Amino acid sequence: MLPIQYPKEEIYAERKDDQDILYYKYIIFITLKRFPMERYDYLLKDERYLSHVEKINKYEKDRIFCHHDMSHFLDVARIAMIINLSENYDIPKDIIYAAALLHDIGRDEQYENGTPHELASADIALKILSDSSYSGEEVQLIIKAIRDHRKDPECDNRDLSDLIYRADKLSRPCFFCPAKEECNWPDNKMNHILKY
Ligand SMILES: [Fe+2]
Ligand SMILES: [Fe+2]
Repeated sequence: MLPIQYPKEEIYAERKDDQDILYYKYIIFITLKRFPMERYDYLLKDERYLSHVEKINKYEKDRIFCHHDMSHFLDVARIAMIINLSENYDIPKDIIYAAALLHDIGRDEQYENGTPHELASADIALKILSDSSYSGEEVQLIIKAIRDHRKDPECDNRDLSDLIYRADKLSRPCFFCPAKEECNWPDNKMNHILKY
């Protein structure tokens, strides 16, 4: 009995597909190994989060003062990380990033209905974080830091709230701001020198 004859191109195509799939799996594996996905990364794909970011951008399109956009959120996260490492706060990176990415997320509600944005942000963050892999205790810490981020801490607690407050203030480049003269920040709170 003669062996079944398969057309050569089809066999080649099947093998090539398999090889491609293996190759892409390998690339994903290597990428994730090198850059493991952080717990805060899901925020950047959350529709509720993205819709607030978009609304804030629209409200601030013509704003001459500091913006509350993704650049600001990342500045706060990265400055908080620098302080965290250089002053040994010892707070996990994914807790700091979640708080920084969410701390001003309710700014659109302040523009819409006057709700202080630290409160609106805390409410929105609680809803979004309840679907995350952060534990209940971690969520409470993050929410507290968001709610406190405009309050001057009375003492140096060296906790997440203190860290986000400091990073938020230090992120503003007052030394290079064209609207400095019209800004209502008191002179003693402005950043006159570049620190981070
Ligand atoms: Fe704020
Ligand atoms: Fe901020």
